[in-house]
Amino acid sequence: VYAPLRANARGFDLTHTPTLVEIDKARNPFKDRQWETAPLLAGDVKPQDPVAVINPTDPDSSPGTVRNASLEDVATALANAEPWTAPLSERRKVLLKAADMLEDNFGEIFGLLAREAGKNLPDCVAELREGVDFLRYYAAQATDEPPAGIFTCISPWNFPMAIFSGQVSAALAAGNAVLAKPAEQTPLIAYVTVLILHKAGVPRSALQLLPGGGDIGAALTGDPRINGVAFTGSTATAQRIRQNMADHCAPGTPLIAETGGLNAMIVDSTALPEQAVQAIVESAFQSAGQRCSALRCLYVQEDIAGDLTKMLIGAMEALRMGNPWELSTDVGPIIDEAARKSIADHIEAARAEGRVIAELMAPATGTYIAPTILRVKGIGDLEREIFGPVLHLATFKSRQLDDVIDAINATGYGLTFGLHTRIDDRVQYVSERIEAGNIYINRNQIGAIVGSQPFGGEGLSGTGPKAGGPNYLPRFGQPDIQETDA
Ligand code: NAD
Ligand code: ALA
Repeated sequence: VYAPLRANARGFDLTHTPTLVEIDKARNPFKDRQWETAPLLAGDVKPQDPVAVINPTDPDSSPGTVRNASLEDVATALANAEPWTAPLSERRKVLLKAADMLEDNFGEIFGLLAREAGKNLPDCVAELREGVDFLRYYAAQATDEPPAGIFTCISPWNFPMAIFSGQVSAALAAGNAVLAKPAEQTPLIAYVTVLILHKAGVPRSALQLLPGGGDIGAALTGDPRINGVAFTGSTATAQRIRQNMADHCAPGTPLIAETGGLNAMIVDSTALPEQAVQAIVESAFQSAGQRCSALRCLYVQEDIAGDLTKMLIGAMEALRMGNPWELSTDVGPIIDEAARKSIADHIEAARAEGRVIAELMAPATGTYIAPTILRVKGIGDLEREIFGPVLHLATFKSRQLDDVIDAINATGYGLTFGLHTRIDDRVQYVSERIEAGNIYINRNQIGAIVGSQPFGGEGLSGTGPKAGGPNYLPRFGQPDIQETDA
């Protein structure tokens, strides 16, 4: 029975001074906290040496340590994994309780999101809301259909609480045993989230946490005992996992993969310039461009390109970079030095060709990349997803609209797309032709809301079904249950 979510998490009004005071009071105890984390298994852990987790804002001030899982821990987790057999009503109750506990624990979660993932306050609020929404949404949707069995959940660092909680809660709501592997950059927030789920009543045998890198991910996705994988991350890693599953898992074991994008926006000459500029700045630079949904390539109709670019540069120059803990920070750091360098190399290559249109100045310490606009002929010039605050700008003439649509589709990705126009027929025309999972008209193209804007891509951007939508949860059940019943 599909029971749609009726209310999203309450969030926080960041324009309300007493709310800001409340947030500051709640997260201050976590400003210097050192978290010590390790695998959470249903059996004995073989302890690894602790590794310092890096704070991207200040590499000299780590938020804590992680003891990564070993291959022996993977074996222990697989041997002890047991589907969550509690009645549906109990599973729902526990997930709803965990959602409330996560909300109540916002001080620690905001502290961790800032110090481990470099998130500023608006991003912390959005992330907690999304994570809590996923728990409540999947709890509401859960049925007593049989689970798949053991599900491996592998998540990225860019939504270390929301995507982690979304995958895990969907698999649990369906009654599976979950083996969860967070990204190596963000194990602490995953640890705190799993502790809360355990405290709320999820048995250890139904939810085990195995922090680690690609080797642990490979072991967890290449074993015949697993019955499904939920993965969010890069397209290249998804391809590796698919091959690993083909080599080691039972035929037909489902892989739900949500992957990267080369997301475009088209702004035509009828667009409202102020609205378009705000949407561009948010889509390209919010979260320092580290959203899979972020705008990478903007096409502006030639007639308005000069004026719109001037407005865009003005709006970009008003952004403040800095420590995400500070309320005034719009753009925080890049997650780590390897990611920073890869983006910086891309900008330097463009600089050598004279294609930098505008760029801000980055803080001297921390792994920052300043918001930057680069000129391109079209989206085909982007050889890869540049996962940071770098906007590529191209222009087009009215008669070239179909060529622009073809170029966007030719990337093979299909995650988000934005269109700014005041021509109704054009909205229809373009949205029927663009191949993308989430299409946004006359607004920004980030921040899909669980329950009302199911999120996910097509082509190289993902397998579907969309997260936070009605088709997601059934994929965590027995894959051929309907055929078996028939
Ligand atoms: P990534 O692919 O490097 O890592 C993702 C996860 O996969 C991590 O937990 C990592 O440890 C694990 N992993 C790495 N190698 C593995 C292997 N061989 N087997 C199993 N697991 C392995 O991605 P990332 O850098 O953490 O995240 C950024 C990427 O995620 C971007 O491409 C972004 O577009 C994408 N993303 C997509 C969505 C979406 O909903 N479509 C959402 C967020 C992020
Ligand atoms: N769900 C996130 C967004 O829409 C990735 O930005």
